[in-house]
Amino acid sequence: MEIWKPDEKGISCAAEALQNGKLVGMPTETVYGLAGNALNAKAVASIFDVKQRPTFDPLIVHAATLEDAFALAASVPPVARHLAEVFWPGPLTLVLPRRSDLPDLLSAGLETIALRVPSHPVARQLLDECQLPLAAPSANRFGRISPTTAEHVTGEFSENPEVAGVLDAGACEMGLESTVVGFPGGNRVVVYRLGATPLEELNDHVDVLEWVRVADAEDNPELAKRGEQSPGMLARHYAPRTPLRLLEEGADIPNTDAGTGWLSFQGHPGLEGPQEVLSVDGDLREAANRLFACLRRLDDMGLKQIIAWKVPDQGLGAAINDRLTRAAALE
Ligand code: TXA
Ligand code: MG
Repeated sequence: MEIWKPDEKGISCAAEALQNGKLVGMPTETVYGLAGNALNAKAVASIFDVKQRPTFDPLIVHAATLEDAFALAASVPPVARHLAEVFWPGPLTLVLPRRSDLPDLLSAGLETIALRVPSHPVARQLLDECQLPLAAPSANRFGRISPTTAEHVTGEFSENPEVAGVLDAGACEMGLESTVVGFPGGNRVVVYRLGATPLEELNDHVDVLEWVRVADAEDNPELAKRGEQSPGMLARHYAPRTPLRLLEEGADIPNTDAGTGWLSFQGHPGLEGPQEVLSVDGDLREAANRLFACLRRLDDMGLKQIIAWKVPDQGLGAAINDRLTRAAALE
């Protein structure tokens, strides 16, 4: 696969590949996406194939503008439009009733479609240039750690002929996927995935929200059977190959054998073995930004286990703890 500079030439090569039904690694402000033409059923199928993603896990479609995004929805409740006006472009995904002529696989056969307008300048230029809505899940093999640099993307897919290349725009600013919200029944707001837009920020707009919460299995008994909290939100996800054990925030250092690596929030004295520190200053933004890269580095050390501490459970911390909990869940 090609590694393109995110200049005019690189963006036009990437746009051409997308128009030809190929896949492209696209930088966004959250994580790198594996993008394909959302209107081309074959390209959408090849995203699932390349990622080895189960077909029950719906994709997120990226559009250049709010109008382009909403053009893919069958209807837009006023509360969704309001959230889009406040948070787009940016790391918030809205799940809306879908237009019936879109490829079924896009939304895994659901009646809804997940939409987002990204803020990353290269993603925006690419969307402008190719004039297509782009389906783009995180550019990692299914269940694995999300990619926050172009090297992570080439590391996953360099051998795959369906992936034409990646636009290398350096490290992603947020480092954590978008927050996903839906509107079952119209104006009720349900959070399907914690992410880079903290719940507290959504709640600042609570005058238009009936309520915000993390969706649970009661909403969706069929999902509960598969152990999912909402479509695609599996108990185990974002996981390193090395077993990961998760400790509560501030828990004492457990007794361990050799071959243990550590992931701490602000740095922990007295540890034996390698340690990755999310943010010495205790900055949750920095921690979110470094989370996946730190996990990858530890995962590449050939350790017997990784032990991680939870971070404070507020703001972005809630999303970081969500990812750590899924990464630590047993297969
Ligand atoms: O930040 C992001 O959102 C990144 C970048 C590339 O934009 N993309 C991303 O895509 O995280 P992906 O495929 O890893 O996440 C898709 C998730 C699904 O697993 C599910 O949680 C939610 O989005 N989702 C998509 N469609 C949905 C639907 N119709 N109903 C409920 N949740 C949906
Ligand atoms: Mg993902």
